[in-house]
Amino acid sequence: MSSIVLLFLYLNTLYLTCDASNTNDSKLFIANDEDVTETQYATCKIATEELVASARASVSRVLTGACNAKTLDEKLQALEKNLTKELEEIKTLLNVILENKRNMQKLAKLYDNYDEDKSDALSPRQSEIDNFNNTLQRTSLLNESANLFFYYWQIKRFNEKLVDWKTARSLRSPTFYVGQNGYAMYIKVTPRYFPDGTVFISVGLTRGRHDSVLKWPFPYKIRLEILDHSSEQSRQGRRSRIWDPSTLCSEYFWGRPKLTGEPDNPECVGLSIPRQIFFVKLPVAIDYPSRSARYLWNGSITIKLTVYF
Ligand SMILES: *[C@@H]1O[C@H](CO)[C@@H](O)[C@H](O)[C@H]1NC(C)=O
Ligand SMILES: *[C@@H]1O[C@H](CO)[C@@H](O)[C@H](O)[C@H]1NC(C)=O
Ligand SMILES: *[C@@H]1O[C@H](CO)[C@@H](O)[C@H](O)[C@H]1NC(C)=O
Ligand SMILES: *[C@@H]1O[C@H](CO)[C@@H](O)[C@H](O)[C@H]1NC(C)=O
Ligand SMILES: *[C@@H]1O[C@H](CO)[C@@H](O)[C@H](O)[C@H]1NC(C)=O
Repeated sequence: MSSIVLLFLYLNTLYLTCDASNTNDSKLFIANDEDVTETQYATCKIATEELVASARASVSRVLTGACNAKTLDEKLQALEKNLTKELEEIKTLLNVILENKRNMQKLAKLYDNYDEDKSDALSPRQSEIDNFNNTLQRTSLLNESANLFFYYWQIKRFNEKLVDWKTARSLRSPTFYVGQNGYAMYIKVTPRYFPDGTVFISVGLTRGRHDSVLKWPFPYKIRLEILDHSSEQSRQGRRSRIWDPSTLCSEYFWGRPKLTGEPDNPECVGLSIPRQIFFVKLPVAIDYPSRSARYLWNGSITIKLTVYF
């Protein structure tokens, strides 16, 4: 009889193992292209129930069919051997299932983190920003050497501002200086300049520390651009013309900012951009974050100002 006890012990252990693996954390996540599919391994439980049922049937057959102690013992031994074999098979199967489950969970985790990981991706323009932001560069353009000053201003969550901000609400950049001891300037963005949603980006002069030693009116040509975050070959930065302050607006805009009161001169020039431009998709499937488009990187826009000396 000891073999029967052993048998049921085996079966019970197996049954419990399977049962435990059938709770919620045995849900398997299979990542496919579209979304996450949930699968549960109910097969294990069914297989065990069948096994238990068949074992019970066999045992009762053995018990009712034969009275000879020796035959009974032999039959039980055969049954035990059979079941041990089946248990081994089920054990192997369980291992395979558990291993699969682990792999699937890893996969599902990867899939879940995918968007997050991508939002860490840097814009292809980042190294340009790091190298040139707030710097003066000497370049040779068409046989003519020129000094260029670059300033990059990033506006975070611009995608939300495009949608939420009321007409005429604007955002001003921090004041920055054009080179050392240079002119103080600012950039202003109005996500909805007209009720139709045109975006307006302008640049102006503001009161600065070196105003008393600078020449007035402001003499340099300037240009604004919204960075296109696609790869180099396909870039189409939205650029303004090169504005020449001597031909645009009056000294009221380009003269020395007032010593008291409102420090900002009004802006004379700006770049208007139809809002749908901001939703133009990136041209190729590079590894860009989810809230990105050609001019929006992870929801942000970056404006570049160039001053030509
Ligand atoms: C399994 O999940 C269901 C629905 O998500 C929940 O109602 C139930 O309490 C969970 N059971 C266990 C054992 O966590
Ligand atoms: C052992 O298993 C085989 C097939 O799996 C079956 O035909 C046979 O009847 C089983 N023997 C006993 C004693 O249950
Ligand atoms: C992406 O944008 C979100 C929301 O503005 C911000 O929390 C996150 O830090 C940004 N990621 C990077 C890498 O800048
Ligand atoms: C560049 O400059 C050189 C000498 O200064 C001159 O000979 C040449 O014609 C110029 N080229 C152009 C394209 O202006
Ligand atoms: C450019 O440099 C200024 C001054 O250091 C800094 O405040 C600003 O955040 C920089 N712009 C970008 C896009 O990193």
